[in-house]
Amino acid sequence: MLNDIQEVLYDEGQIQAKVKELGETLSRDFGGRNPLVICVLKGAFVFMSDLVKKMSIPLEIDFMAVSSYGQSTKSSGVVKIIKDLDASVEGRDVLIVEDIIDSGLTLSYLIDVLERRNAKSVTVATLFDKPARRAVDLEADYTGFSLPDEFVVGYGLDYAEQYRNLPFIGILKPEVYQK
Ligand code: PRP
Ligand code: MN
Ligand code: MG
Repeated sequence: MLNDIQEVLYDEGQIQAKVKELGETLSRDFGGRNPLVICVLKGAFVFMSDLVKKMSIPLEIDFMAVSSYGQSTKSSGVVKIIKDLDASVEGRDVLIVEDIIDSGLTLSYLIDVLERRNAKSVTVATLFDKPARRAVDLEADYTGFSLPDEFVVGYGLDYAEQYRNLPFIGILKPEVYQK
């Protein structure tokens, strides 16, 4: 598995330091608002787990599973809800937690859904961003790292469902997805 990585972009220590910083900022900004923190499965589960442990305020968590990539390395543009929220977002301050924004299609769809369900506010925190790949005009409210336009895996991000468990983020060797 480690053999398939061409280059580590951010190691475990760098990621954990950034997650701590984001968690402290979010704690300040969401203190007293009891936010509903939504993990966008599957990719965001690692970031979500680390992030909420750095948020020292009352909050609730929920999960939503959407998928746009399938087995491909390119977004199909079609977003599918695979698992919906258990909680109602009506009147809630919602914080969407994502691992990465690429085209922005997943998030623009999700934001739209949550706004139509009358969330009081919808805020986005993403650990990674690939601004070069944006297909819609969308910026996260909180971003950890900006990444180059390379196929990256680890810390929740997959290629064909593999590599999510790597504690760092790295560039996948092209021969892995070209074969
Ligand atoms: C990935 C990633 C984001 C989304 C970003 O999820 O985790 O959710 O793509 O791409 P976009 O900005 O172009 O929409 P994916 O659809 O691969 O599902 P997964 O989280 O289960 O891997
Ligand atoms: Mn995802
Ligand atoms: Mg994926």
